[in-house]
Amino acid sequence: MPDLNLILLGPPGSGKGTQGERLQEDLELPYYATGDILRAAVKEGTEVGQTAREYMERGDLVPDEVIIGVIAERLGDSPAGHGFILDGFPRTVPQAEALDAELDKLGRQLEAVILIDVSDDEIIRRITGRRVCADGGHIYHVEFSPPETEGVCDIDGSELVVRDDDRPEVVRNRLDQYHEKTAPLVSYYEKQALLNRVDGSADPDQVAESIRSLVSTLSLEEG
Ligand code: AP5
Repeated sequence: MPDLNLILLGPPGSGKGTQGERLQEDLELPYYATGDILRAAVKEGTEVGQTAREYMERGDLVPDEVIIGVIAERLGDSPAGHGFILDGFPRTVPQAEALDAELDKLGRQLEAVILIDVSDDEIIRRITGRRVCADGGHIYHVEFSPPETEGVCDIDGSELVVRDDDRPEVVRNRLDQYHEKTAPLVSYYEKQALLNRVDGSADPDQVAESIRSLVSTLSLEEG
C-alpha cells in the first residue's frame, strides 16, 4: 500500500466522521479527527481543552496556532509509508499552509482532498437528528442511521447523547464559519489539482462506495 495521505473536507454534518470511520476500517490508516481530539481534550481538561472549550461551545473555530500544534505533533509521530486520514483539518487557509510546510519537513505529500458536498438544508436535518455515543463517539441519526436499541450504542453499549454544539443557534454559526473560513480551501486545493468532489447527499453506503472507488483509483495511480 502506498503512502496514502488523505483529507476529508466538508461542512459540519456532511458525513466526514461517518465516512472517516469506514475509511479507517477499510484502509487501516491512522485517522486524526480534530473535533474528536478537541472534545477528548476538553473532557480531560488539558491546556488545549481549556482553551478550545469556549470556542467550540459557540461554534467558532479554535485559534489556528492551537490546532496546528495538535496536528503537527500527531503527524510527527505518524510513521511515514503508512498514510493518514485527516478529518476536520485543515479548516482555514493558514492551517492548510501550515500543513503543507509540515509535510514538506517530513518529506511527505498529500494524495487527495475529498470534499463531501451537501446542501445547508440537508445539513440542518442531519445535525438535528444526530446522536453520538458518550464513550466512543460512534455516530447515529434518529432517522437515517438509528441504533438497534433506541438510545444505546450498538458498538459499545454506552448512552447516546446530543452533542453540546448541535443546538440550532450554534449549528447556524458553525455553518457561517464554514462558508467564511473553510470554503476557500476548495479553490486552494483545486489549484493544486488535489480536490475530488463526492456527492454527500446520497445514503451513507453509496457515499462510502464513491469514496472507495476514488481511493482505489488513487492507489492504482500511486502503486
Ligand atoms: P467537528 O467535530 O469536526 O465538527 P464538524 O466539522 O462541524 O463536523 P461534524 O462532526 O458536525 O459532522 P461530520 O461531517 O463529521 O458529520 P457526521 O458523520 O457526524 O468539530 C467540532 C468543533 O471543533 C468545531 O466547531 C471547532 O470549534 C473545533 N474544530 C475542529 N477542528 C478544527 C480546526 N481544524 N480548526 C479550528 N477549530 C476546529 O454526520 C452528521 C449526521 O448525519 C449523523 O447523524 C450521521 O448519522 C448522519 N449522516 C451522515 N452521512 C449521512 C448520509 N449520507 N445520509 C444521511 N445521514 C447521514
